[in-house]
Amino acid sequence: MKPPFLIAGNWKMYKTPSQSQEFIRELEEIPHLWREGAEVLLFVPFTSLPIMKEVAGKVSLGAQNFHWESEGAFTGEISPVMLKEFASHLLIGHSERRHIFGESDEWICRKLHSAIHHQFSPVLCVGETRQQREEGLTFSVIRSQLEGAFQGLGREDIRRVTIAYEPVWAIGTGQNATPEQAQEVHRMIRSTMKEQWGNDLSPRILYGGSVKPENSGELLDQPDIDGFLIGGASLKVSSFSAIIETSLKRYHS
Ligand code: PGA
Repeated sequence: MKPPFLIAGNWKMYKTPSQSQEFIRELEEIPHLWREGAEVLLFVPFTSLPIMKEVAGKVSLGAQNFHWESEGAFTGEISPVMLKEFASHLLIGHSERRHIFGESDEWICRKLHSAIHHQFSPVLCVGETRQQREEGLTFSVIRSQLEGAFQGLGREDIRRVTIAYEPVWAIGTGQNATPEQAQEVHRMIRSTMKEQWGNDLSPRILYGGSVKPENSGELLDQPDIDGFLIGGASLKVSSFSAIIETSLKRYHS
């Protein structure tokens, strides 16, 4: 049996609680979306988590950020313990956190340890910048992001991590990686993980970066693409549901 695709949305700093509620009601009312073949997950702003938790029945919920400590004097931060009531997934290492907020591989590693310790399902983002791609560094950059994040984790921990390959140059630019470019990196991630952390590892690897209804089918046709992490196109019910539909068609074809 094929594993279902994972279709995840990352809302970033968009939507108030009432807009979030409206979205989830509308999405979950679409009847044919909730068949076997696609799991749907939304990373929403902290302020939307309580209402989403109340209203969402079919969609899983995740938080976009957190501090690795359980509690403490960290003004403005949110801990995994606080998120536990609302979210099952945690997003770690998104390129906006790495580049705008200066998160290092060391921080990302601490967050991954914390997420696993608190029994969340972590989604770890990796990806190269345009310059790194042009310099032929894509594979080495991603390998070192994986090694940095997995430092000190055991095989059983790593098994719980979903990887999202998000080339930085494709995020929010409208310019997605071609299916061949994405497949090449996904295959490398899969083989690196098997080589380094155990042959029986079969991580779920999502692609992210300007995913739209129009390019989602050809991306999902690639053997090593197991789903998506979607920014812009996850903000509208029409585009997000169209991508879920495409994944269901691919699953049942
Ligand atoms: P995008 O964002 O789909 O708008 O390119 C993807 C992401 O940042 O996860």
